[in-house]
Amino acid sequence: MALLPIIVAPDPRLKLRSRPVGKVDRATRKLMDDLLETMYAAPGVGLSAPQVGVAKRVLVVDVVKEGEAPQPLRMADPELVWVSDDDRSYEEGCLSVPEHYAEVTRPARVRVRYLDEESEIRERELDGLLATVVQHEMDHLDGILFIDHLTSLKRNMILRKLAKARRTAEVET
Ligand code: NI
Repeated sequence: MALLPIIVAPDPRLKLRSRPVGKVDRATRKLMDDLLETMYAAPGVGLSAPQVGVAKRVLVVDVVKEGEAPQPLRMADPELVWVSDDDRSYEEGCLSVPEHYAEVTRPARVRVRYLDEESEIRERELDGLLATVVQHEMDHLDGILFIDHLTSLKRNMILRKLAKARRTAEVET
């Protein structure tokens, strides 16, 4: 396994629509494992391939609490086959939007169909934090960040701060 560098917004690679993998081969399985290792190290509860510069429809999630045994989910080519009418709001963050958090409203429950690490088709109904995180990560596969769900005023403020933080870091190094 390997730790991968996480791309921080604003960056055109985060705006791409990623390609389906079709089937999960060894290379995709390795990508899933590297994403998980990178996510746990960050630490985060979800990570998608485009956030490490790989434009493939692959994501990993683990919303387990600290001290509990890991419960990683590896998904390729995920699709929402059903969403609930009731919504859930959650203060979201993102490893590609460091140190910024904002409330985002999404369907409270979803049914997702995906390929697992053995390339088997799975379908799961998710709720709570898991439903929120999987929808957030699936957005990444279409080039959508959680800040794209905010007003343009809020989004631009966050993007300006991120760009400024990057310029400051470049001057310091
Ligand atoms: Ni994210």
